[in-house]
Amino acid sequence: MTTGESIRSTILTNDPLWWRQAAVYQIYPRSFADGNGDGIGDLVGIISRVLYLASLGINAVWLSPFYPSALADGGYDVDDYRNIDPRIGTLAEFDVLVAELHDAGIRVIVDIVPNHSSNLHAWFQEAIVSPKGSEARNRYIFRDGKGKNGELPPNTWTSVFGGSAWQQITEPDGSPGQWYFHYFATEQPDFNWDNREVQEDFLKTLRFWSDRGVDGFRVDVASMLKKNLDPAYDGLVDLDRLGQSLFHDGLHPIFDRDEVHDIYREWRQVFNEYDPPRMAVAEAWIPSHRLAPYASTEELGQAFNFDLLRSRFDADSFKAIIAANLTLSAETGASSTWVFSNHDVVRHPTRYGLPEYAQAGSSFRIGAEWLKNGGLPDEIDVAGGLRRGTAATLLMLGLPGSAYIYQGEELGLHEVGDIPADQRQDPIFFRTNGSEIGRDGCRVPLPWEPTGTSFGFGSDGTHLPQPAWFADYAVSVEDDDKDSTLNLYRKALSLRAELQGAEQLEWLDAPEGVLHFARPGGWQVITNFTGNPIALPAGEVLMTSSPLVGDMLAGESTAWIRA
Ligand code: NOJ
Repeated sequence: MTTGESIRSTILTNDPLWWRQAAVYQIYPRSFADGNGDGIGDLVGIISRVLYLASLGINAVWLSPFYPSALADGGYDVDDYRNIDPRIGTLAEFDVLVAELHDAGIRVIVDIVPNHSSNLHAWFQEAIVSPKGSEARNRYIFRDGKGKNGELPPNTWTSVFGGSAWQQITEPDGSPGQWYFHYFATEQPDFNWDNREVQEDFLKTLRFWSDRGVDGFRVDVASMLKKNLDPAYDGLVDLDRLGQSLFHDGLHPIFDRDEVHDIYREWRQVFNEYDPPRMAVAEAWIPSHRLAPYASTEELGQAFNFDLLRSRFDADSFKAIIAANLTLSAETGASSTWVFSNHDVVRHPTRYGLPEYAQAGSSFRIGAEWLKNGGLPDEIDVAGGLRRGTAATLLMLGLPGSAYIYQGEELGLHEVGDIPADQRQDPIFFRTNGSEIGRDGCRVPLPWEPTGTSFGFGSDGTHLPQPAWFADYAVSVEDDDKDSTLNLYRKALSLRAELQGAEQLEWLDAPEGVLHFARPGGWQVITNFTGNPIALPAGEVLMTSSPLVGDMLAGESTAWIRA
């Protein structure tokens, strides 16, 4: 077994269900590693770190968008779905990356962004110079404005990033024109998914990347593709409030409409053209009981469950969420997914380090309100947040199903709270005039070395400023420290691979504030959410998230036991 080819065929099998209990590591390409010294992470940078990725013991990487983009929304504004941003690399480099990751036994998931393109996409550029009612306009959602001269938006819906969800264009003859719908930034026009041409173009994109060897897709805002702009909803200002009443029946004008499932049933046919079939995971911030069809085997196979991410570090809440989601998975045959951090939310050690009152909220806004005031590192419980964060992670890695890990969490990184306003990039910050801090704080380039202009990220600076405290969290520093967060993640992931069996979990009796469960094969996980040490159950202690206190499990700590 001397060639990459033979290693690959040994490590990566054709198991069609490889993803069901995978540990997936999310790479935000612009902030992972910079191979050409322009301050922006790239494919060459990732290729240079494949050994590092292999050392983590992960099963797959998920690459956030690397497509050509003007970066109005961190790459989720795509100019061309079947190409690579020249600042990030080339298709040839992409092929090398896939081959090297596969050789290392790591599968590749790419991000697909079907709800909207960027305003620089050739189709949108064509739409704005084409006449009203043309085929080109019909690929997006154009409407006449209201008011005497169409000077008012078609309705009062707002963008999730702040401001109106409608933008008026200037017609080719220079007159004020129609309005287009954008649920996200102005530069992200929503596609018209009733248009067969749009549907077919995405089938082509799925095949394009599948043919290049990618193993799966993370589907951005999967629940929003189908819309009903029926005038009956006109005048309803607050989509969130509207959501409360309509969310549960598939009738919301833009979220989670029942027709969206037709799209994914067709995508499944494409996934199944490949051996093994391509996997997919839906990103959908909808109530978990509505996730089942997305995650079914007739559609995407998996959907992110963000319930744990939204929860405080609390035993009762964790137990209720885990139990409910395992029940749902058992009913539908989908595999569960678990995640605490990603590129949209305040990093979980930081959330858990916030004062109690600041820990409640939803989606990426948890903690963001508080961080606005300056935040890190002085005003946060840095050590406590990380202690609770690693306890939660070790619990998550003990659960049946897939675990999604976000780059930098294996280093115990906190959110970067103090990025100057003139260096921020997130449209949320700008569209709310800075009243919402946005997501840049979890997207700061990784520290690889404790010194240098970019802590080893590249040779010349970074596109978002790194704080001085990143030095203590650098990969090379943690590599050398056997008690580092990095080595804790490595140990957990390697043990998990060894211990992970059938997707079953049995709750065991535990005192208040403690969760204790057994997995098949004698593997037990116990998490002490309280502040005080507790006695450990009988068995061999395989690892703990914090050092034992004598022979007891420390407060806010998780242990893995072989009973
Ligand atoms: C979800 C992505 O994770 C987020 O980063 C992006 O801003 C929106 N979708 C819009 O694409």
